[in-house]
Amino acid sequence: MPSSARGPAIEVAGLRKTYRSKSGDQLVLDGVDLVVPAGTVTALLGPNGAGKTTTVGVLSTLLKADAGTVRIAGHDIAREPDAVRASIGVTGQITAVDELLTGTENLRLMADLNHLGRAGRARVTELLDRFGLTDAAGKPVATYSGGMKRKLDLAMTLVGAPSVVFLDEPTTGLDPRSRRALWDEVRALVESGTTILLTTQYLEEADKLADSVAVLNGGRIVAQGTPDELKAVHDAGSLDDVFLALTEPPAATAEDDVPADEKENVR
Ligand SMILES: Nc1ncnc2c1ncn2[C@@H]1O[C@H](COP(=O)(O)OP(=O)(O)OP(=O)(O)O)[C@@H](O)[C@H]1O
Ligand SMILES: [Mg+2]
Repeated sequence: MPSSARGPAIEVAGLRKTYRSKSGDQLVLDGVDLVVPAGTVTALLGPNGAGKTTTVGVLSTLLKADAGTVRIAGHDIAREPDAVRASIGVTGQITAVDELLTGTENLRLMADLNHLGRAGRARVTELLDRFGLTDAAGKPVATYSGGMKRKLDLAMTLVGAPSVVFLDEPTTGLDPRSRRALWDEVRALVESGTTILLTTQYLEEADKLADSVAVLNGGRIVAQGTPDELKAVHDAGSLDDVFLALTEPPAATAEDDVPADEKENVR
């Protein structure tokens, strides 16, 4: 990962995205700026519909932005999308496993897509073991529980040993033990130099796991800092309180008029 080791692994500036439809256009990202240093975890928080999944979609080259620049692992997403794709792994908010295949088959498919050749077999066995799926490996995924599918999904994301990993609500639906196991997995990945951008609605998770927390609201990052910095700035006992202070429910009143001096930018 030489390119990501030198500078930030994720650099986003002025990102804009509008969804267009016959029933009307919707501006979702209105100038998002975000920097994630290599080998760190950033949690992207925000209310439902704030644009977290949209951001992950753009950063992972699945969606096209209207404006702004994004560099992932040193590669520009517009000019070098293939290099970006080769550097990243994405676990989407909706599980992307093939229900008809077994766990092993899903993982082998990813290994083949990553051109792992003979090394792929060992990688698949290792990941099945790491995620506690060895016993279920030969069964069709349709017979897995939701949590098992989620774990398989994450294992599939890691097959190609990506240097930058996007996790969109990775622990939704996981029981407390599985959630902690996933936190350990994230920490181990970061320890080995991987950069992670994750979204979550579990703010305790963001508090425990993230080096930096960014809050997306009204199409912009309205605050970014360590969990402790954000709590201190907002005189809040928990990130829940920070979240409530920074994100207003959708109101009938002006949506884009957040005065500049109300925006926190703690770094
Ligand atoms: N493909 C699409 N076409 C049109 N509008 C979309 C599309 N995807 C998302 N949106 C709209 O964009 C806004 C942001 O959606 P997005 O899924 O990015 O939010 P989110 O922050 O991930 O929310 P959640 O916490 O519920 O997952 C929402 O209002 C949503 O309805
Ligand atoms: Mg989402």
